[in-house]
Amino acid sequence: MTHLPKIELHLHLEGAAPPAFIRGLAKEKHVDISGIFDERGDYSYTDFWDFLRVYEAATSVLQTPEDYARLTAAVLAESAANDVIYCETFLSPDFCGGRDLGAWREYLHAIREAADRAEAQDGITLRGIVTPIRHFGPDKAREVALCAAETAGDWIVGFGIGGDEKAGKPKDFAWSFDMAREAGLRLTAHAGEWGGPESVRDALRDLRVERIGHGVRAIEDLALVDELAEAGVVLEVCPGSNIALGLYPDWRRHPIGQFHDRGVKVTVSTDDPPFFHTTMRNEYDRLSKAFDWDDGVFRAINATAAGAAFCDEATRARLQKRLEP
Ligand code: ADE
Ligand code: ZN
Repeated sequence: MTHLPKIELHLHLEGAAPPAFIRGLAKEKHVDISGIFDERGDYSYTDFWDFLRVYEAATSVLQTPEDYARLTAAVLAESAANDVIYCETFLSPDFCGGRDLGAWREYLHAIREAADRAEAQDGITLRGIVTPIRHFGPDKAREVALCAAETAGDWIVGFGIGGDEKAGKPKDFAWSFDMAREAGLRLTAHAGEWGGPESVRDALRDLRVERIGHGVRAIEDLALVDELAEAGVVLEVCPGSNIALGLYPDWRRHPIGQFHDRGVKVTVSTDDPPFFHTTMRNEYDRLSKAFDWDDGVFRAINATAAGAAFCDEATRARLQKRLEP
């Protein structure tokens, strides 16, 4: 099953940057971020909040559209090598041009050109989900939502929110989500990762999202689990991320198996793969061993992901065809 064609719905573009790539850019730009790496050259952090600090320090060397084009090429080459045929990536105008609409358009243009080259070369399709950073606050999120609304279309297909789930409440961001929805964007939100089941309920009620990033802490409220199954809410589950960040002690005790057994629509993604020493093949391999899942389970998970992708219907039909055995 590790070689099956795969769909990944939850990938942060900056978070997918290999440490050697970031070190190379830092050297070119004479920026000293050596403190974010350990002696082996991997990213070094102590917990989720330290991870966010290291993530933002790494991102500080991505300073031009060309840097993002190079990043996109590197990330998609790695994804394609893991049999990923379709990927949705979180992009933040906060990092791409400081929320200036003109600059954001230039970053987006460079990213799309790199994605088009990867598609022609490796047959991997990329789409973007614009994502404010929760701990940057609701005012910045509004500016991000305006950038998202102005660039919504066949490539920017979604709007989400990441960052520190303990900063503020989902309803603080309702204006931004309303703006994105009115622009035709499909909606997801990180919730139920560092916040409990209430955080998932709040995101569903106040932001009216159709997918939840992570959502795993919903397992602490089985009535909510049943509601998720009933409503067909799709979870973008990133087990390797949750384990690396200490939410669950090991793969067997990760709740994805319980969600699956209770009929919740689960999908599998890597979140920020080099930070968590994972890849899509590794996620499939570890899940198959932990839960004794065979090809049939992973095919069903990818069918769920194809159905939940925010792309247009022609693209979805092409993906579904490629997923056929
Ligand atoms: N940004 C990058 N990775 C994240 C995660 N796992 N949770 C919230 N925000 C993030
Ligand atoms: Zn994430």
